Amino acid sequence: MSKIWVGTNWKMTKTIGEGISYTKELKQVANELTSNIELFIIPSFTALVDIKKEVAETRIKLGAQNMHWEDKGAYTGEISPRMLNEIGIDLVELGHSERRQYYNENDSDINKKVVSALKHGMKPLVCIGEEIEQKNNFISFEILAAQLKVCLKGLSEEDAKQVLVAYEPVWAIGEKGIPADSNYVGEVHTFLRHTLVEMFLESGYEIPLLYGGSVNLDNFLKYINHQDVNGLFVGRTAWDLETFTVLLHELEKHLYS
Ligand code: 13P
Repeated sequence: MSKIWVGTNWKMTKTIGEGISYTKELKQVANELTSNIELFIIPSFTALVDIKKEVAETRIKLGAQNMHWEDKGAYTGEISPRMLNEIGIDLVELGHSERRQYYNENDSDINKKVVSALKHGMKPLVCIGEEIEQKNNFISFEILAAQLKVCLKGLSEEDAKQVLVAYEPVWAIGEKGIPADSNYVGEVHTFLRHTLVEMFLESGYEIPLLYGGSVNLDNFLKYINHQDVNGLFVGRTAWDLETFTVLLHELEKHLYS
């Protein structure tokens, strides 16, 4: 897999104005990067329309942080795939651990969203990850396999080619997160690749497997060095564009020069 996916989930941090300023600068950085790096940003819903205008005609892909699976209906506070399509969204992040933890999303819900995103021509970015108790009880692989099997249930080989998977161990994410050991990440990604190939004989090799959780300037090269890590999904380190720019340039130098 030659392309490396690098992107950031802004979570609930940037206003529309802050998002626009960030994106204007990121466009310049993007122009300097090789086309082997697939760059994406995932702003808040309120900023999507304005940021779409900024990234139109650029190589930066635009994502949403969540969506409902129904096309329309009485679901107060939700955003439907039709609404995201109207904006021209490329990808939809589904099943982030914060959605699972605070809003009780489960793998079956995520599966409905994955199917719906595909139906509307958007790439699902499916987040999976084990909790610390599960890791300590040595059942990470079982948990992750179950998450993949339920979240991607019923997909055809063609569908699977549109999917991205992000492995984000719950215990490694956010302010209280502990950065994962890179060998552990490598082992998990190899296992995830085997599981995907078992599920999708043809396309299993093509599904980009991103790593996320406390990715920072000190550790990102160790993660990306593993064969089955095909990208990085970055939170805090990318919210400051200066740091993200350093990461992108160093990554490019490491991989392609
Ligand atoms: P942090 O990089 O801030 O740990 O967040 C990662 C993440 O949740 C990406 O979706």
